[in-house]
Amino acid sequence: MDTQLGNRFKERAIREMFARIAPCYDLVNRLMSWGQDNRWRRVAVSLACPGRGRVLDAATGTGDMALELARHTDSVVGLDLCQEMLSRGQTKTEKKGLRSSVDFIMGDALALPFGDNSFDCALNGFALRNVADISLFLAEQRRVVKPGGRVVCLELVRPASGLVGTFYRFYLNRMVPVLGRWLSGDGKAYQYLPDSVGCFLSVADLQKMMKDVGFHQVGYRSLNLGTIAVHVGVK
Ligand SMILES: C[S@@+](CC[C@H](N)C(=O)[O-])C[C@H]1O[C@@H](n2cnc3c(N)ncnc32)[C@H](O)[C@@H]1O
Repeated sequence: MDTQLGNRFKERAIREMFARIAPCYDLVNRLMSWGQDNRWRRVAVSLACPGRGRVLDAATGTGDMALELARHTDSVVGLDLCQEMLSRGQTKTEKKGLRSSVDFIMGDALALPFGDNSFDCALNGFALRNVADISLFLAEQRRVVKPGGRVVCLELVRPASGLVGTFYRFYLNRMVPVLGRWLSGDGKAYQYLPDSVGCFLSVADLQKMMKDVGFHQVGYRSLNLGTIAVHVGVK
């Protein structure tokens, strides 16, 4: 199967999965992260240093990162390929009175519908494991960010060894699928979560990939006892 066709298949499966879990996505995130997920997004936003300007939240989902960004910058674009996830984001933005600062757009983050150098920075949260081509996803964000702008990636990372790793693996592999099935009624989606973390890149691999894509000053900050990482690269 050629790569483009493979990507289309993965994108379709991912879009259908997120469409199914969209109604309970935020609740499950809050419970599974023990109420910490928005704190991690705040760290990602602080590392992006958006200031005033136009910021992209790629694979925005239900828009939690976009909402956090809207408190710190003039204009936010949240892009995702799943309309059911975006609609939740739109509703939340309206309720919070931030409608004028956030635009939600349905689109493919692997072929961003924006010109080169059109954003001051770009972020993505819990997206890397879910895109069909990580390098292309990073390269597209690098393309649309202005020279000197940052791209910030917040993601769960492969469990470390040692006691924390053992507990984390147990939580992720045994408890998350059960909890996810119970809360969302979709066991398959929440079995996919530990599977996708288990085969995801290490922090060092991701750092190398960002450098290969052309970012400089690439670094990362570990959160939650090393189970979450925020990678930053500069165009
Ligand atoms: C785990 S959710 C993360 C949502 C959000 N960023 C957050 O912080 O909760 C992953 C999202 O990636 C989106 N996605 C996957 N591939 C995509 C692509 N090629 N273009 C746009 N969105 C994509 C999915 O539709 C889903 O909403």
